Amino acid sequence: MQKFDFCCPTEVVFGAGAERELGKKLKDFGAKKPLVLYGGGSVKKNGLLDNILSDLKQHGMEALVKGGVEPNPRVGFVREAIALGTEKGIDFVVALGGGSVIDTAKAVAIGLGNPSYDIWRDIWQKRVVPQKALPLATVVTLAAAGSEMSDSAVLTNEETLQKRGLNIVYNRPLISFVNPALTYTAPKYQVAAGVADIFMHTIERYFAREKNNFMTDQIAEGLLRTVVHFGQQALEKENDYESRSEISYCAMLSHNDLTGLGRTKDFSVHKLGHELSGRFDVTHGASLTSVWGSWARKVCKNDVPRFAQYARNVMGVAEDDDAKAALLGIERTEEFFEAIGMPTCFSKLGIGIQNETMLDYLADMCTDKKTHIIGAFCPLDYEEIREVYKSANR
Ligand code: NZQ
Ligand code: ZN
Repeated sequence: MQKFDFCCPTEVVFGAGAERELGKKLKDFGAKKPLVLYGGGSVKKNGLLDNILSDLKQHGMEALVKGGVEPNPRVGFVREAIALGTEKGIDFVVALGGGSVIDTAKAVAIGLGNPSYDIWRDIWQKRVVPQKALPLATVVTLAAAGSEMSDSAVLTNEETLQKRGLNIVYNRPLISFVNPALTYTAPKYQVAAGVADIFMHTIERYFAREKNNFMTDQIAEGLLRTVVHFGQQALEKENDYESRSEISYCAMLSHNDLTGLGRTKDFSVHKLGHELSGRFDVTHGASLTSVWGSWARKVCKNDVPRFAQYARNVMGVAEDDDAKAALLGIERTEEFFEAIGMPTCFSKLGIGIQNETMLDYLADMCTDKKTHIIGAFCPLDYEEIREVYKSANR
């Protein structure tokens, strides 16, 4: 087994009605003036926002509220919220939503903790390492990004079309409330994209150079099988608590580092997908499935036995020959994506076939103008990244 350092300090309140404990918990933490952030309005329609505000009021807190976070959240909104929070002297940030609202709230909490720095220029571009953040509570409405327990947040700069993540300990929420029933009102496409994203957070840790982490393999393979099974059930059955709770639990575990302990995560497919979302504003989970098969076929030769293990233990492939099993595992994974309505190439992603100039642009963005390579399992340079995009360009 390899060495690792695991720190995941977020308290999680999980289960039916979990969010009803928010007011009491925040009061116990000493919050007086929270800023509640939400997205395009789903939490207004389904009543969650009103319930949360009255709960906070009952516990002596008059919350400030700001809605309007868009999917692939923008840095402009973050700056506005930081300015508002500074002016009003808020002392706690609360996110009501999916990954986009939670990531926005993380950036706002960091921005408010470090008021002399610009959130994008200084912090997101890693010129300054923040040393604190306001405390953050999240109420999760979609099983997807796993931001409720992750040390990551992803923002898009709407001026440069760069979509970039920041991984630091101050991105870990203090507390997250995960009530699987809150995901019932989410559109099916978003549920499916969420399932794909959960799957991807573990698979991007599974394909790694380090060997001999048997326990980590068991956790990862078990989680992936669970996501395949209950992800499909969640889409087939309306308001099904069993499947929603399984995928909500998987979302948390898949991105809190547990499923990749002792390994260097790769996350190439995330990088490839972020450039698609940055340029075309496509849904995160769909951006990933649109390139995963092309990535897998390119890197498979790097470690055929590993792909064969994945094929047998996750995708149920019964084939003795490693090379054949590996390819069958990739095919079955793409069949799973298609079964949940997720795209496996650019045309199915809805962006159409791209010209050569756009492929150059995407590879250029991915490598910050050829100054970086991506990935760890199989590092990819500009030309190799371009080949992956080209193979998905159908
Ligand atoms: O904005 P509202 O009106 O709430 O609607 C949202 C949004 O339109 C809707 N939705 C969510 N829950 C709902 C609901 N509608 C009705 N009822 C509900 N219960 O779904 C749409 C998508 O929401 P979004 O928050 O964008 O989805 P998701 O949770 O998939 O988050 C995606 C974002 O997270 C980032 C992605 O890059 C993307 O920007 N990620 C964040 C990570 C992290 N912080 O650790 C890791 C991931 O790899 C990912 O990159
Ligand atoms: Zn993701």
